[in-house]
Parts: sequence; structure tokens; C-alpha cells
Amino acid sequence: MMSSEILVPGWLQQLLVVLLRFTLSCAALVNSTNGTECSARGPASYIVVFTGHWSPQTFPKQYPLFRPPAQWSKLMVVTHNEQYRLWQEGAPASDGMKSFAEQGLTVDLVKDAKEARKRRSVGSMYRTAGIPSGIGHSSTEVLLTPRSPLLSLIVKLIPSPDWFVGVDGLNLCEGGKWKQEVTFDLHPFDAGTDSGFTFSSPNFPTTPPENITMVR
Ligand SMILES: *[C@@H]1O[C@H](CO)[C@@H](O)[C@H](O)[C@H]1NC(C)=O
Ligand SMILES: *[C@@H]1O[C@H](CO)[C@@H](O)[C@H](O)[C@H]1NC(C)=O
Ligand SMILES: *[C@@H]1O[C@H](CO)[C@@H](O)[C@H](O)[C@H]1NC(C)=O
Repeated sequence: MMSSEILVPGWLQQLLVVLLRFTLSCAALVNSTNGTECSARGPASYIVVFTGHWSPQTFPKQYPLFRPPAQWSKLMVVTHNEQYRLWQEGAPASDGMKSFAEQGLTVDLVKDAKEARKRRSVGSMYRTAGIPSGIGHSSTEVLLTPRSPLLSLIVKLIPSPDWFVGVDGLNLCEGGKWKQEVTFDLHPFDAGTDSGFTFSSPNFPTTPPENITMVR
């Protein structure tokens, strides 16, 4: 009786500490892609699962019902080091990002990533099929190596002028160890290249282009 009363709070406390640590390391991670050498011995394999939850309740702003209804583009994942950037909040979108955010095309991004792979700043890249509705999953297995321990990904909202969700340079290797699991809530970003007012509006280039900003 006594021992279980002591045991339960002790166990709870440990759980809390673990959760808190997890949260803290996540916050620090996003910040410090700068100068982090990964000293893990070997590669690590992860399953990236993207869960789309775009419904009139979760994101009512101009929720599209027709032509086409809400859905998600293919997911593109790149593993890389600090010399490469797929996209960055507050910075201009590359031409590749522009054609991805506006039309869901990955050709230019793949070309850029292949160039970067020659310079060894990109490790590998992956693409999945799109999700034909606002709510659904896509996933892919990815391989991270100590040379390219950062992960970036993007998915476009369809239809939308140039909106996407993504992760920018998440470091999966910290203190010489690969992280077990990371979960993110993703927010929509505006690539700053198309000024359409609604999800279904025709192409309307922003001149000059603006930087990437969060959609609020
Ligand atoms: C996190 O980023 C902020 C703003 O960019 C910077 O001032 C701070 O030094 C960074 N912290 C670490 C631990 O890198
Ligand atoms: C972060 O990067 C900047 C610019 O490349 C460099 O001057 C600075 O020393 C780096 N910081 C760390 C902690 O490596
Ligand atoms: C857009 O990004 C560029 C490059 O990072 C920067 O020099 C410029 O100040 C940014 N513009 C705005 C309005 O934030």
C-alpha cells in the first residue's frame, strides 16, 4: 500500500521530466542548425508520416469545396547539411519553390537538390504520391547519414495560390545520437510569389515577389 503510493507519484514525475526534456530539445533544435556536427557512428532510418487535417473546422479560411476540392500535393523530403536550404521563413522562395508552391511541380527542386548532392550538401531526396482529400496520410522511409543530418520537407495545399506547409532544416542528430521520434504541428506558409486572393483564384503573380511568410 505504502510502496505503491510512493511508486505512482515517482513514476509520474519521471514521465514529466522526459516529456519536458523532449519539448526543450525540440525547441533548441529548430534554432540551431548552425555548426552542429553529427558525431553519430552510422546512418539512421526514419519513417516520415505526414498527416493532413484540412477540414472546414480546422482551417476555415476560404475552405475550397469545388474545382478542385481541398487536397495535398506530393510530399517532398530532402536530407542535407547546413550548406543547403530548401526553404526559409522570411527569405525569398527559390524558382524551384515557386513552381512547387504555385503548381506542385518538383522538377526544378529535384534539379537543384541533385546539383547540391554533387557538392555533398544534399544526402538524398524522396517524394510520395499526393493525398486526394483534405484529410489523409502520406509517408516515406528516409535515410539520414551523419554527413546530412538535417531534414526539410514540403507539401502544397491544393488548391491555393502558393501555399504550403513544411519543415526547414530539422536536425535529427544531437549530441552524437539520432533522435527517436519528433512530432510537429505544421502551419501554412505563403511563398510570396502569387497574390491570388482565394484558394481557387487564377494565377496572379506578385511583383516584385515577397518573402516566405506564415499564413495567419
Ligand atoms: C536561437 O535563435 C535566436 C534568434 O535567431 C538567437 O538569438 C539565439 O542565440 C539562438 N539560440 C541558440 C541556442 O542558438
Ligand atoms: C554559426 O554560423 C556563423 C556564420 O556562419 C558563425 O560565425 C558562428 O560562429 C556559428 N556559430 C556556431 C556556434 O558555430
Ligand atoms: C526578404 O529576404 C531578403 C533576403 O533574406 C532580406 O534581405 C529582405 O530584407 C527581406 N525582406 C523583407 C520585407 O523581409
